Amino acid sequence: MSWSDVPVRRAEVFGGPMQGIAPTSGVRVARMSLAGRLALVNAVIALITIAIAGCVSYLALARELDRHADAELWSKAQALAHTFAELPDATSRDAWQQGVRTALYGHEDLHVAIVDGRNKEALFASSALAEEALTRIDWRAQGVDPAFWQFKPSYPVASVAMPIRLAQGDNLKVVLSQDRSREELLLARFTSGVIAAFLALWALLLVGSWWIARLELAPLERFSQMAARTGAGSLGHRLELNGLPRELAVLADEFNSMLVRIEQGMERISNFSGDLAHELRTPIGILYGRTQVALSRGRTEDELRQVLEDNVLELERLSRLVSDMLFIAQEAESNVADLMTKVDFRKLAEMVTEFMSLAAEERGIVFAVTGDAGVIANEVLIQRALTNLISNAIKHADTGSSVRIQIGRSGNGAAVEVINQGEPIPAIQLKRIFERFYRLDASRTRQDGGTGLGLAIVDAIAKRHGGRVSAECGPGRETRFRLELPDQKGDGWKVRAER
Ligand SMILES: Nc1ncnc2c1ncn2[C@@H]1O[C@H](COP(=O)(O)OP(=O)(O)O)[C@@H](O)[C@H]1O
Ligand SMILES: [Mg+2]
Repeated sequence: MSWSDVPVRRAEVFGGPMQGIAPTSGVRVARMSLAGRLALVNAVIALITIAIAGCVSYLALARELDRHADAELWSKAQALAHTFAELPDATSRDAWQQGVRTALYGHEDLHVAIVDGRNKEALFASSALAEEALTRIDWRAQGVDPAFWQFKPSYPVASVAMPIRLAQGDNLKVVLSQDRSREELLLARFTSGVIAAFLALWALLLVGSWWIARLELAPLERFSQMAARTGAGSLGHRLELNGLPRELAVLADEFNSMLVRIEQGMERISNFSGDLAHELRTPIGILYGRTQVALSRGRTEDELRQVLEDNVLELERLSRLVSDMLFIAQEAESNVADLMTKVDFRKLAEMVTEFMSLAAEERGIVFAVTGDAGVIANEVLIQRALTNLISNAIKHADTGSSVRIQIGRSGNGAAVEVINQGEPIPAIQLKRIFERFYRLDASRTRQDGGTGLGLAIVDAIAKRHGGRVSAECGPGRETRFRLELPDQKGDGWKVRAER
């Protein structure tokens, strides 16, 4: 059997799934190959089948041989009895000898004895075997099965007795014995021949099934080659589906889709960290430059205070950026269903507008909240989403205009729309504003402290709830953001506290 050394993989992950995974720990355990196992199973089944077939054919042959020999023995005995009855001098020894010689000519396996029917005394025996048969035969069991006995070791004999009906009424019997060693030999030869043939066949089956299994499993090599080639930096390889059996093709297809998903995930992560580094560079650069300039020569206390105040603003923005990033990162991990409650959109909108009324007042903006609806959702998250949308609306609304918040049912859930009047967003940028760090006017948003993550957070929250957020710019400088959340059903949405 083909045993091979297969290294046992032990993934050692330190600090999360994105860290490097130690490929193999070098532990090697002797395992039997799959091809070997299949071949062995096949061979065992074949062995059992062959053994059963061999036994059945052996028994059938033995029975047929016996039946044939018995029939021949009986008919020969009958013929002999008849011949003796017809002899002119039926009770003379010479006549018997003569009769036996003619009757058994060419039948060396047959031995004849003639006995007195009453006292079973031997009157004539053609051989020592024929004489011994008289002591072995069961005189009462006539016309049934022959008596089987051993003349010498491995010299099986079958004997039958048949009355001879003489004209003068003498009671004689003929005992005919057949040497069955020829049948025995035939069976023995059959058995050894069959065993030899079966052994050869079995070996052929074993090798054949091992070979076929190996051939069929050969494509599995592709998987291990692929796994060996794949790493965080090389996720572009795909398995070739051509020539794979159906089961493996399905597996390979799933494997390929998994690689695609991992590749996309890796790309997102790498884009995200790239963006993050880029975003951090600007405020850090500003802080660094400003501090260096301040230190380059002697400054008055007022000048230093001004620098520190400016730095505080920048640091505030930085800290907001970091907490937004943290929020997005945690959001990807958290289970939104953990804190699901009945959320009243109307109450929430009133709360948020109240909270932002000062910022709105500064720009002469008034709020108008209309409608009423609610869904089961994570209230903290929905409040955050609403705050982001409303603060954007305040920032981008024309001075002295109004920001409308319209609440209503939508499909199988609820929707809240935040509408403001202001500079419209160009159509091609409408799709991109939900991307992380995407801003229409980076320099302007820098000044107002935006991080470019507000809408990305709204989008993440909507998706977390199975909903969506969209934006459109209508006629009359109207910008409308719509957040739709479906009603939550099913076991996945455990409501912890009803309000
Ligand atoms: N109501 C709005 N009207 C016009 N532009 C908007 C509005 N809301 C968002 N935007 C644009 O979308 C961009 C992304 O918004 P957001 O993700 O909240 O980032 P931030 O507000 O930090 O700049 C903003 O820079 C802005 O250009
Ligand atoms: Mg914003």
